[in-house]
Amino acid sequence: MTIRYALPLIAAVLLCSALPVRSQTPPLPDGPGKEIVAASCATCHSIDRVTRAGYDRDGWRNVVAMMVNAGAKLPPDQTNAVVAYLTKSFPPKAEPVAVLIPGSAQASIQEWVVPTAGSRPHDPLAAADGSIWYTGQMANVLGRLDPKTGTFKEYRARVADSGPHGLVEDADGNIWFTANFKAYIGKLDPRTGTFTEYKLDPAARDPHTPLFDRNGTLWFTVQGANMLGRLVPKTGDVKLVTSPTARSNPYGMVIDSKNVPWYVEFGSNKIASIDPATMAIREYPLPNAGARPRRIAIEPDDVMWYSDYARGYLGRFDPKTGSVTEFPSPGGPNSRPYGIVFLKGAIWYSESGVRPNTLVRFDPAAQRFQTWAIPSGGGVVRNMMVTRDGNIAMACSGVNRVGLVTVK
Ligand code: HEC
Repeated sequence: MTIRYALPLIAAVLLCSALPVRSQTPPLPDGPGKEIVAASCATCHSIDRVTRAGYDRDGWRNVVAMMVNAGAKLPPDQTNAVVAYLTKSFPPKAEPVAVLIPGSAQASIQEWVVPTAGSRPHDPLAAADGSIWYTGQMANVLGRLDPKTGTFKEYRARVADSGPHGLVEDADGNIWFTANFKAYIGKLDPRTGTFTEYKLDPAARDPHTPLFDRNGTLWFTVQGANMLGRLVPKTGDVKLVTSPTARSNPYGMVIDSKNVPWYVEFGSNKIASIDPATMAIREYPLPNAGARPRRIAIEPDDVMWYSDYARGYLGRFDPKTGSVTEFPSPGGPNSRPYGIVFLKGAIWYSESGVRPNTLVRFDPAAQRFQTWAIPSGGGVVRNMMVTRDGNIAMACSGVNRVGLVTVK
């Protein structure tokens, strides 16, 4: 998550790595394919990114397709050798097994493979017309699925390697997105296929999650740069402020009933609000110092729920009283709760650290959990969004799919 296209910096690091610093990198195991991996997989990020990972064959095939999309120079006739080498050398890590809890709520999960291999569907968008959009982060595309027919349409961003990340729709049906690798906010008019770029200060290098407030102002988090942004579409004016806590990694966002944006700090244990007029930020620390809230959902009465990714908890935060209540997620401390929404009186989220990933429902009145296995395994559901007709759209990054949860 922290490694971006900081190519000059990476080049410098690579030069230095001829010096003793190198000893920190574990060696690649011997075997056919090792040389190609050594040559092609350590130019944008360190080889640790590879040696620390673990996937089965399909998972590695997907990763290699993502890297080729990102610009890895891998001759097509070498792909199978590289996938075989990676599969043998870096098998899946032991992950907790999903805890499946039966219950009376009814939900079914449908998934579609997106057209371009290695897209890494990052975030979903349930559009007003019933379509499901997603960002294909590594393929530089915005995709649209008509779930009724299963038909896809892809729109390739005009700027290469934009890394489309989060996306939202405006009142006119334009799709806005954060270009996570290229420091701009993009707008796509799906009628014409035209892209418009709103460039940010280069310091705001990795815009993350965008959201419109009720006035049509676009708010966004900038994770690694530790900033919050506001873009006024009419004028194109952008204002950026820095999150008060250093390296707080501003992440998921919601807008409350008074039109105030709130975000969670994935790099610390805080939830924060932004004054829409002054952009002054107020932080609310969560009681446990180890909490790392990653995404956040909101009820109509402004009670907020967050996924504590680091500790495996679901958290409830009441902004009126500041009180926090925590519930251990069914999959345990390593279950990595991630994408989360509020729907039909319940909280729905995904556990991304269990195998297979789960869809979890929490009934706050009965304080009861129910869980479903995601059929494809999920591949990390980074975000979810409620559809207009009361279902849930989701993106399944590592299995190159988008999904729709139909809730009875
Ligand atoms: C052209 C640049 C580039 C090259 C070359 C490259 N990568 Fe990557 N790699 C990336 C980017 C960008 C990311 C994503 C960073 C992020 O999470 O935002 C990434 C992430 C990864 C991840 C983490 C995947 C995940 O879903 O979290 C793995 C594993 C990985 N690369 C393996 C490889 C392998 C294996 C190769 C060689 C075949 C390779 N990389 C070559 C750019 C590159």
